[in-house]
Amino acid sequence: MAFPPQFLDEIRTRLSVSTVVGRKVKLIRRGREFVGLSPFTNEKSPSFTINDDKGFYHCFSSGEHGDIFTFIMKTMNLSFPEAVERLADEAGLEMPRQSAEDVQAADHAARGREAVEAACVVYEQALYAPEGKRALEYLKGRGLSDETIRRFRLGYGPSGNVIKTKFLARGVKEDVLIETRLLSPGKDGRESFDFFRDRVMFPIFDLRGRPIAFGGRVMSPEDQPKYLNSPDTPLFHKGQLLYGMALARESAAQKGEIIVAEGYMDVIALAQAGFTYAVAPLGTAMTENQLELLWRMASEPTLCFDGDKAGRGAALRAAERALPLLKPGISLRFAIMPQGKDPDDICRREGPEAMAQVLAEAQPLSDVVWKQLLSERQTDTPERRAGLEKAVMAKASVIADETVQAQYRRLFKDRLFDLFRPAVTAYASSRGNTPGGNRGGKWTGKPGERGNYAKSPPNPFPPAGAQRFSRSADTGQRARERILLATFLNHPELRDHVEERLGAMGLADSRLDSLRQTALMHIAQNPQLDFAAFKAQLANLGFAEELENLLNSDIYLHAGFARAEASLDEATAGWDHTFTLCQRADLKADLDRALERLTEDTSEENLAAYAALKAQAESTGDDDDEPALR
Ligand code: UTP
Ligand code: MN
Repeated sequence: MAFPPQFLDEIRTRLSVSTVVGRKVKLIRRGREFVGLSPFTNEKSPSFTINDDKGFYHCFSSGEHGDIFTFIMKTMNLSFPEAVERLADEAGLEMPRQSAEDVQAADHAARGREAVEAACVVYEQALYAPEGKRALEYLKGRGLSDETIRRFRLGYGPSGNVIKTKFLARGVKEDVLIETRLLSPGKDGRESFDFFRDRVMFPIFDLRGRPIAFGGRVMSPEDQPKYLNSPDTPLFHKGQLLYGMALARESAAQKGEIIVAEGYMDVIALAQAGFTYAVAPLGTAMTENQLELLWRMASEPTLCFDGDKAGRGAALRAAERALPLLKPGISLRFAIMPQGKDPDDICRREGPEAMAQVLAEAQPLSDVVWKQLLSERQTDTPERRAGLEKAVMAKASVIADETVQAQYRRLFKDRLFDLFRPAVTAYASSRGNTPGGNRGGKWTGKPGERGNYAKSPPNPFPPAGAQRFSRSADTGQRARERILLATFLNHPELRDHVEERLGAMGLADSRLDSLRQTALMHIAQNPQLDFAAFKAQLANLGFAEELENLLNSDIYLHAGFARAEASLDEATAGWDHTFTLCQRADLKADLDRALERLTEDTSEENLAAYAALKAQAESTGDDDDEPALR
């Protein structure tokens, strides 16, 4: 709805910026302005200023700037109309209504909402009444505290027609009760009756936290269905809502994170374990609408899925749905639960740390898509490889955003290249289709932090298929590896450009290899680091000696672009060139080994492996200054 400008101005007049902001930020008056610590950064000295006369705030450290509406939208994760509604309410203003029909519809909706709210209260009270004893024991038996029960307003829907009897006596119209599905319409001329009977009640809240529907769970495993849910009603549209969203909003905004689980109990158990920023779709596959809701709250929501076949299928469906909608910086992550467990089980039986661990191991969308494509195909013949290449590129082409699509193409191309390059291994393992496999070193770190590898259960989406480059004793190759690493350490800004390829390499020198890994992990966690801070931290982590040796060595004689003083363009070009040489030398080493093996044993397989490598060498060995491959 478009709001009349006078209406918005009226709200601005009644609510000063300092009043609205002052509730979240401690403000100190300084002349005509107020200052405080910015809610948008983690600053220590105040750079956040407010000017009530002009009606805006400005944050000098983050550049955030806006009025009372944007402030509420940003800090509470609300849309503009929602922010207007909230502030109008606070200012004591009625929302403008356009027509008589609107007024009538709003009235009708309000009566429905009142009925659902009243039913919610009835269920809540019944839970703590004698009739709700079994339901309360059930919830306590599932580990829920009274506080959690209150927060989610859990209840008990008594047997019999309690709602019908009570509400009709209060003068609530039967059609309102039927429309909101508190009552089932009696079919074939029979009487209507209470929709939820003898069930544990989970109210479903709209985005503003008002109950609009319910899920009711049975208490005995033999009863069916396990969960009975309100059907869509004028108030409730399943596909446009996520369970727990209103409660999750604020902490999601603060954390910049949101977890998507599968069921009611998962969301509740997660919240009780401290993950208050959790939501769930309502028993259906994720809709576009729900994805958009999620992305309004966090740039990379983490979706939890069972490790079983159904869970994997659901993850893939969510990935498919998300792909066309990706934007720069906007994506999904996938946390795969250990076999047979859901977040509720993990939080309750293993504790919040275990859950944090599972979340920390979440995989990016691009990995899930890549692994799926790979698992569907063999890559042991040129035709099959071409088939994979085609499917992979077709997948990238569904991404509407050009920049993201280009990045996916580039990533997939690099991966295909790595996958096909060491044809000996690719050939041997193509039947199992698990190229690459886990790269030995596992990362450790505090649970809950992104990007840490950790002890992991068998994973149904094993890490990406980038082949580890073979280690070479060749000193020329070692020098190239040192140049690649030094160039990156001297130019951390190269990260985006080199990360994928440098991440897939294994350096022959094991200390340098662990420096490579640590450096990549570190920059992923602290992308803003400049060169000096980056180096200092790596030194602190025990790599002082390696850094000293590497960065003060004679490699610069051969590779001026590796120096810190070289321009980024020089460094980029130099890195790419060296990388190509490195790969070519690796390929040559592979080819030599394959030839050796073929000479020892002229089996079909050895012959095919050699032929594949040779074809590859011929297609890549071109005009460079290194000796061409024979
Ligand atoms: P699950 O069957 O995985 O159950 O359904 P759950 O969430 O782990 O439930 P608990 O732990 O046994 O209580 C996942 C979700 O699918 C929907 C519900 O939203 C549920 O939370 N569902 C499931 C239904 O709507 N109806 C059903 O009969 C079953
Ligand atoms: Mn469960």
